[in-house]
This record gives sequence, C-alpha cells and structure tokens, in this order.
Amino acid sequence: MSKFEKLHKLKDQMEKDDSLSLKKGATKLVFGSGNTESKILCVGEGPGRQEDLQGLPFVGQAGKLLDKLLILAGLERKKVFITNVVHHRPPENRDPLPEEITSYSKYLDQIINILNPNVIITLGRFSMTKFLPNVFISQVHGKKHDVIWQNKNVVVFPMYHPAASLRNGNILRQEQTDFVEMGKLLPEILDTKDDKVILEQETLV
Ligand code: URA
Repeated sequence: MSKFEKLHKLKDQMEKDDSLSLKKGATKLVFGSGNTESKILCVGEGPGRQEDLQGLPFVGQAGKLLDKLLILAGLERKKVFITNVVHHRPPENRDPLPEEITSYSKYLDQIINILNPNVIITLGRFSMTKFLPNVFISQVHGKKHDVIWQNKNVVVFPMYHPAASLRNGNILRQEQTDFVEMGKLLPEILDTKDDKVILEQETLV
C-alpha cells in the first residue's frame, strides 16, 4: 500500500472514532493535507474556524501566512504535508487540553510513522513540546534539533505559530528570519539526490 493509501485508510478510521474528545463540537475532521511523499512534515496546533468548516489545515489567516513563510524557506504548500496536534477544533478556539492532545496523539504518531519524514517543522509550542519537552520556544525557535523519534533520526525545527506572528510584529520578523535560515539548511539535511522537492525550488528570499 502506498503512503497515500495508508493515510486515507487512517483518515477513514479516524472519522469513525467517536472516542476522540473534541469530535462532538466539531464540524469536520481536519486530518491533514499535502504531499504524501514529502520528507517534510509541518505540525500545527489545532483547527480554527475556517479549518473546521473546510476540513483542511491552515486555510485561514494563519494559513495564508504559513504559505508565505514556506516560500521564504524555498518550499511551498504542495511540497510538504501539514497536520495538527489535535484534529478537531477546540471550542471557542481555546488551547487543546493535555488529555485532548493525548487522545489524538495515537493518530498523529501513525501519521508520522506512515510519512516517515526527515524534517518536522513544529508550529507553536504544543507541537514543539511533543518532540522537544522542557524547552522554551523563545529560546529554541528556528534552531535545528536532531531528535530521535521512535528509534529514527529526525530533524526538528521549532517555529513560532503563525497566529502569534499575526499578533506581534517582532515575532513575525523573527519567524521570517527563522524560515529563511531553515531554507539554507534544508538541502544538506534532505537527501537532495532523491528529493527533488528542494532542488527544484528557486530560492526566494
Ligand atoms: N492553526 C493551527 O494550529 N492549525 C490549523 O490547522 C489552523 C490554524
């Protein structure tokens, strides 16, 4: 089975799972979307209003900014896969609770296992904490972290959440710099011989 097929199967399974704690208040499951063969996975926090209505991640204002940030790194949305820590919208857009994050983590873990990414870009502190517990985003943002995740080496770039950048110009400037700097490191991190994702990109800085 291809990764595409495996992810679809997992999505079907998730759609039927009534034990997911945020399901009742949500309109649609936001499983994730993007290039299922990508070596780069972006993990956000949870769906907002637009995402809940459309069933797709990062399609609101924060998503528009994310598109621009990806371009600063020499990427684009269709070259990465994007998902979240929780896949149903928390009521009133509140932060996901620890037990909610736990309830969805078995699916996020499977998404990661299927995609088998070399690079994980975390967006905000909830996804960062999954890979880098006990750090402060203000101290580690934008830095390359070599992490062993389920017995496999993966590079994690903890980035500010784009919604935080929309609220604060200083964070936005920092985040833009972080994405530009990450873009310089990506070609050597990824095996560019069999990953045309990076080689085919023009560098837009
Ligand atoms: N914010 C997130 O963290 N994820 C989304 O999908 C949209 C906004």
